[in-house]
Amino acid sequence: MQKICSLFFWVFFILPVSAQVCPILPNPVVYQLANGQFVCSGTLLIDPAGITPDIGLAIKDYALWTKGITVAPFVQNSMIQFKKLQNVVQDSYSINIADRITISYSSEASCFYAWVSLLQLAEIEEGQLIFPKCFIKDYPKFQWRGLHLDVSRHFFTVDEVKRYIDLMAYYKFNTLHWHLTDDQGWRIEIKKYPLLTEVGAYRDSTLENHYTTLPRTFKKERYGGFYTQEQITEIVNYASTRFISVVPEIEMPGHARAALAAYPQFSCTGQAQGVEGLWGVFDDIFCAKEASVEFLQDILDEIIPLFPSQYVHIGGDEAPKTRWKECANCQAVIKENNLHDEHQLQSYFIGRMDAFLTQKGKKLIGWDEILEGGLSPNATVMSWRGYDGGKAAAALGHEVIMCPGSHCYFDHYQGRSSAEPLAIGGFTPLDRVYEFNPIPPDMSAADASYVIGAQGNLWTEYISNMAQLEYMTYPRAIALSKVLWSENSPTYETFLHSLISFHFPFLSSKGVNYSKTATMPELRTIRKEKGGIEILSIPAKGTMEDTLLLWEIQAAKRKTNDLLMHWTEYAVQEYEPLVNQINIIQHKALGAQIVLQTPPSPKYDNGSLTLVDGQLGERPWKGNQWLGFDTDSVSFDIIFDKPIKVKEVRIHTLHDPNSWIWAAQTYMIGFNKFGVGSGLACGYSTDETIVIEETDKKVKQIHVTIRGLSKIPQGQPGAGNTPWLFLDEIEIR
Ligand code: ACM
Ligand code: ZN
Repeated sequence: MQKICSLFFWVFFILPVSAQVCPILPNPVVYQLANGQFVCSGTLLIDPAGITPDIGLAIKDYALWTKGITVAPFVQNSMIQFKKLQNVVQDSYSINIADRITISYSSEASCFYAWVSLLQLAEIEEGQLIFPKCFIKDYPKFQWRGLHLDVSRHFFTVDEVKRYIDLMAYYKFNTLHWHLTDDQGWRIEIKKYPLLTEVGAYRDSTLENHYTTLPRTFKKERYGGFYTQEQITEIVNYASTRFISVVPEIEMPGHARAALAAYPQFSCTGQAQGVEGLWGVFDDIFCAKEASVEFLQDILDEIIPLFPSQYVHIGGDEAPKTRWKECANCQAVIKENNLHDEHQLQSYFIGRMDAFLTQKGKKLIGWDEILEGGLSPNATVMSWRGYDGGKAAAALGHEVIMCPGSHCYFDHYQGRSSAEPLAIGGFTPLDRVYEFNPIPPDMSAADASYVIGAQGNLWTEYISNMAQLEYMTYPRAIALSKVLWSENSPTYETFLHSLISFHFPFLSSKGVNYSKTATMPELRTIRKEKGGIEILSIPAKGTMEDTLLLWEIQAAKRKTNDLLMHWTEYAVQEYEPLVNQINIIQHKALGAQIVLQTPPSPKYDNGSLTLVDGQLGERPWKGNQWLGFDTDSVSFDIIFDKPIKVKEVRIHTLHDPNSWIWAAQTYMIGFNKFGVGSGLACGYSTDETIVIEETDKKVKQIHVTIRGLSKIPQGQPGAGNTPWLFLDEIEIR
C-alpha cells in the first residue's frame, strides 16, 4: 500500500500597512502628509476659472469613470481651485490639500495628471469624500510612457480599446502604440484599398494550443474584425481626453501576410495566399519594387490624417530576405540603387518611408532591425531585442524607445506556477519590471538624452480576450509606470503595499482581471548542506493588514518514486483559494554541485541548481526552470557528494524556434578516468538519454559538453543569429 506522509505548516502572517505608504502610483516626486483630512460630501465643486472647458469635461468624465465621483462647477465656495503656472518643469503639477484643494499645473496634460493623483487619494465612505491633507509636487521622468496593443493576432472592440485607455490613464501613461496590422489580420479601413479589410481582416483558422505543441491543431472558424476610419477617429479622440496619444503601427516590409492575402501583386511572387492562422515569421513580405512602395505610401496617406500623433510606426522587424533574394524586381532595385545586399535594400525601403513621412511632417519609428543595413536619417528606434539596438541608435544621435524583451514584454509569463495561463514563453515577473531602467548602466549621459522613454508590449497571440489582456497587463503596467514617471523609487515591498492596499481594490472595483501572482506564496527548491534538495515555502508578500493566510503543505510519496509537493493556500478575505504544486523527480544527481565552465546569459540565469533541482523545465517555457546560454557550446561538471554508479544520463533541452531557442545537437559525457559516453541527437531532440556502458566503477564527477546549432537556419525567426541553448534537468540514474 502506498504510504502517504503528510506535513502541515500553518502560518499566520500579518504585515502592517504603514500610514506613510503613498496611495498614488506612480509615486509622486514629493508627497508630504499633513495632519487631518479634507472631507466633503457628495459632489466635488470646482472653480472653473483656472481651466479650459475641455479640461473641465475631461476631469468630470474621468472622476465619474474611476470612482463614481460627480463634479460640478461652482465659483463661490468651490472646494478645488486651479492655477496655470508659467515657466515650470514640463508637465509638472502640485496639489495642496488643506482647508481647500489647490491644483497648480503647467500644461493641460499635467492638470489631468494632478486630477488623477487626486482621484487616487480619494476615499469614499458613506457618501463622503475623504482626502488626506498633504502636499504633492510632481512631474514625469520620461516623455514616452507607453503601452502597446496588438489587435491583429486577436481583435479588441472599440469599447475594449477605450477601457484599455481608461486604465492606462490611471497610471499616467501617455502613449498607446496600436499594432494594427500583421500576418494574422489587417485591422484598419483604407478606403483606396477596400480588400485590405474585406479580405485581410479575416482568417479561416487560428492555432490552438502553443506553437511548440505538436502536432499543431487549428480552430477552423472565421475570425477577425476591423475598425472603420470613423471608429479610429472615435478612439483617437477618446484617448486625447485622457491625454493619451495614439501611435499607429503599419507593419512593413515583413508581417504582411494579411495585406498580401488581399493584394498579392505587392508581394515578390504574386501568388495568392490566405490570411495566416499560425503565429510566427513568414517568408512572404512586401516586395521592394516601386509599386509596393507606392501602395504603402498610399496607405500612409490615409493613416496620417487619422492620427494627430507626431509619430508613425512602420514596423520593420522580422522581415526574412528569402523572397527578396530570389525576386528579379527586388534585385533590380538593389542594382539601380547600388545597394550591397538585401539588408541595404531594407534600409532603402525604410528610407523611402522615412522621407515620405518626414515630408508630411511626421516622424518614423521602427523596431531595432531598421538599424541593419544603415539607419534612416530621421528614424526613431524601438529597441526590443535587448538594449543594443537602442544603444547603437542613441550613439548615432537618434531618438530611442526602450522595450527589451527581458523587462517589457507583458505577453511573457509572470509567475512560476504551472497554474499560470498559457503564454508565449519568457519570464517577466513584476519585480523585474519594477527594477527596469530604460537607461542601461553603460550608456553615457549624452547618449541617454536620446532615450525618450519605454513601453510595455502586449502581443496577443495567446491573449484572446479582455480578461486575459488585463491579467497580463496588470499589475506589471503599474510597475512600469513607476519606471517611466517616478524620479524616486521606493522599495519593491513598499510598492507591493501600495498595490495591495490601494490599487488592487481599485482594479477590483472596475472589474479588472489583474494578476495576483506576484503577491502569492511560492515554493522553491534549495540545496541542502549535506547534499540533496529541500523545499522552502516563501510567504506571501505585502499582505494586507486584515488578511490572514493559512497554508498547508503536504508531501506525499508517490508510487513512481517522484515526490509531489502539493500546496494549498486559503485566505480569509480577498484571495481565492489557490492550489500550487511542485513535482520533484527523483534521480541520483539531485542537489549535486554544478561547476559551469560556460556561464549562462544573465537574462536566463536561474542558478546552477536549476540543472539538478528535480523540477523539469516546463514547455512552453516560462523563463524560469531553464538555464539559457547565448553560446553554441556549453560545458559543466557535475560533482556528487559520494561516488555513484551511472547507467543513464538524460539531458533536457528546449526547442522553441519562435523564441530563437534551438534544441541541442550533440552531447558528450566524460567520466573521470572511467570512460566516455556520447550522444548524437537526431533532428531536434529535446530530451536525450545517453546510456552508459555497464561498469562496476563508481564516479565522483562527470563532465558534460553539449553543442547546439551555431546559426539559425534561413526562413526561421532570427535567421543567421546564434540561437539560444536552453538546458534543464540533467537526470542521472
Ligand atoms: C517584435 O516583438 N517582433 C517587435
Ligand atoms: Zn520582390
